[in-house]
Amino acid sequence: MESGTFAEPKPSPLALLLLGKNADPDSETGVECPGDLPPASDPNLVERVRTARAILGDRLYILGHHYQRDEVIQFADTTGDSYKLSQQAAAHPEAEFIVFCGVHFMAESADILTSDSQQVLLPDLAAGCSMADMAAIHQVEDAWDVFEAAGIAKSVIPITYMNSSASIKAFTGRHGGAVCTSSNAKRALEWAFAQGEQVFFLPDQHLGRNTAIRDLGMTRDDCVVFDPHKPGGGLSEEQLRDARMILWRGHCSVHGRFTADSVRDVRDRVPGVRVIVHPECTHEVVSLADEVGSTEYIINAIAAAPAGSKWAVGTELNLVRRLAIEHPDQEIVYLEKAVCFCSTMNRIDLPHLAWTLENLVNGIVVNRITVEPEEARWARVALDRMLALPGLAPRD
Ligand code: 13P
Ligand code: SF4
Repeated sequence: MESGTFAEPKPSPLALLLLGKNADPDSETGVECPGDLPPASDPNLVERVRTARAILGDRLYILGHHYQRDEVIQFADTTGDSYKLSQQAAAHPEAEFIVFCGVHFMAESADILTSDSQQVLLPDLAAGCSMADMAAIHQVEDAWDVFEAAGIAKSVIPITYMNSSASIKAFTGRHGGAVCTSSNAKRALEWAFAQGEQVFFLPDQHLGRNTAIRDLGMTRDDCVVFDPHKPGGGLSEEQLRDARMILWRGHCSVHGRFTADSVRDVRDRVPGVRVIVHPECTHEVVSLADEVGSTEYIINAIAAAPAGSKWAVGTELNLVRRLAIEHPDQEIVYLEKAVCFCSTMNRIDLPHLAWTLENLVNGIVVNRITVEPEEARWARVALDRMLALPGLAPRD
């Protein structure tokens, strides 16, 4: 597909990257899937998933992130952004099995928020997140040592984006901080600045910077970027002491594809278009956009728009393509000319879903995601602080 327009849905392409084989077992991208998957060419896959789901009944609850393929999202009991899905995971104590159609850090959070008797499964262990991989716990511990040496650790509150490993969430909980998502980053930062003078924002520098500048009225100069690959983060003690926001040097490879030129080009191509982007985009892109918000915000904004509206949407392609199909009375285009799926979200496909559910029917739990109890305890502290933030308005 080219030039940001949409045709009728076709079967999703096979995963764009061969992740999994020989992958780093410590990384979010996980390891190769065990077992024999049904072939993607099996014409009965939809029926096989339907049958397995019916047999499992209320024992099963399927969560689907908005970036999932159409072939998978059709089976989700709830779809949502990472905030809504974390709430939903906690809200279904009756389900013995939560099958998380999303990525690894989301399944970890679901495991932390559900009871010990519930099991969380990720249909493909190679569904990780490159952004979450940009913050390894040993790097973050080292960064904290740098803050201690600079004498600022006491006044720094860590806030980690949901898109981080359980160990980073646990670190955040242990150091008095909270998790946030793109739906509630503003509230999380307001909360953090009520607890301390500086915020250490992990791992997405763009969400941190965009929220600080757009929602809290800070300037670029209030923010510094801590580079874990440079001694001392590449910052002097004075820079660290003067900063209000210390941003981890991480980003999303999908949202990082949108540029100021993407925005200018689409305004030329589609006169009268409104540009709506996710806050994981760079500050330059966000500054040029008409609206900025989480995936849930984008969905609600388009649903509320009148017929004839024109949108250029800067977020993952599965969602944008679905929005175009669901709103044929509006003109919805992808912000970039070149397509960009999240390759790890796309790992979850019908063969993996069928394989996971059919194993459950046969009494075999595959690809269970578990977080070690001590890590889970502290990560839960950070997640609970997020869930206790004041409620979100419908279009947040
Ligand atoms: P939200 O689901 O919070 O909008 O985040 C988008 C994302 O990149 C998930 O991986
Ligand atoms: Fe990670 Fe970006 Fe993919 Fe979300 S869209 S899972 S942040 S790489």
